[in-house]
Amino acid sequence: MGACTRSFGVPQDAKSKLWPQAVVCEGIDQPLNVSDRRAAPASIQAELHFECATRTDLISFHLRNGGLRMSNKKLGVVVSVINLKGGVGKTTVSAHVMRLLYRTLRKKVLLIDLDPQFNLTQTLLTRKEYEKHRTSGSTVFAAMEPASKVSLFDVATTTQKPPAASTLATRLRNLSNAWLDLVPGDFDLVKYSLISDHAKLDKVRQRFLRFVSDARAEYDLVVIDCNPSSSFITLCALHACTQLLVPVRPDKYSVLGVELLADFLERLPDIDPKPKISILLNGIPTSRYDPGPENELRQHKTFGTEVLANRLRVSALLTATSAYTGFATDKPVANRHVLATEINLIVHELGQRWGL
Ligand SMILES: Nc1ncnc2c1ncn2[C@@H]1O[C@H](COP(=O)(O)OP(=O)(O)OP(=O)(O)O)[C@@H](O)[C@H]1O
Ligand SMILES: [Mg+2]
Repeated sequence: MGACTRSFGVPQDAKSKLWPQAVVCEGIDQPLNVSDRRAAPASIQAELHFECATRTDLISFHLRNGGLRMSNKKLGVVVSVINLKGGVGKTTVSAHVMRLLYRTLRKKVLLIDLDPQFNLTQTLLTRKEYEKHRTSGSTVFAAMEPASKVSLFDVATTTQKPPAASTLATRLRNLSNAWLDLVPGDFDLVKYSLISDHAKLDKVRQRFLRFVSDARAEYDLVVIDCNPSSSFITLCALHACTQLLVPVRPDKYSVLGVELLADFLERLPDIDPKPKISILLNGIPTSRYDPGPENELRQHKTFGTEVLANRLRVSALLTATSAYTGFATDKPVANRHVLATEINLIVHELGQRWGL
């Protein structure tokens, strides 16, 4: 159970006198003491509205004129696309699989580029479009820190909440009641590997977690494209997510790579419950395929059952080139439908696993 996230519209003293448990409650399974309203002085017969976030739902309580209204909103799923190994297809999957997921399942999807190399952003935005975002401060950096002039070795902190994801993001695609947005990346995230002040970094992490948590009320799915290797920003992504999507290449090193990631996650005591793993085989050659590594993965005693049945083959359409900016399945070529059909099988499988 999550903690109470917000409480507003109540005079300060009302919090302690009238609804003590409501304010300190750790989750909705604890009783909320709203019954002794008559005991309160008239001055605090105020309207009360607060929200409790569980892992999957946002529960709102609204007390007004003696009546309590409760409503329940399903929170978006948060997926970190992660593998500590580089070049396995994290960015490719974040862009091209999620583009079809939004359209096929008709979902509100937010992509967050959390890699300082910001390849996802470069895949989807032209340089000119990106520069506009940088200039206006509408990048993922605003989810970590407020705008400031602090040095590269320091972080700016504030008590103010981060901007809403929808105000930072750029809309890439839009259908009625479904859209695909991107919070562009920022090279300035590299600074977090230069800073060793844990207290300051913790403030950055809390701000990012609040940013993602708020985004879950706006979007059905939040997808975080992670950097390879383990770093402070990897930890931010692991703390924020409810699911992991792990692309792997079917090669000699893939099993060990997933084992190392699972072990790393296991040794992070603050992350509880752990996000659920889904493993996607990416880059299956169309000829001369050696099924050995795939078989080993599928038979693995710990995560064999988490390997998706559907795989992503090598496709020239998915290969990043400097000549094309945008989604692979939107390229005006005939074989894009073949690729779209293959990706849609993955989309349906992910939709089921993630309850979308
Ligand atoms: N299924 C595929 N078919 C063809 N090319 C692919 C496929 N998957 C990935 N690629 C290409 O492989 C390269 C690496 O992929 P990608 O950038 O998605 O990996 P990554 O895991 O995000 O890398 P990094 O760890 O550097 O962030 C890119 O040039 C991409 O276009
Ligand atoms: Mg990448």
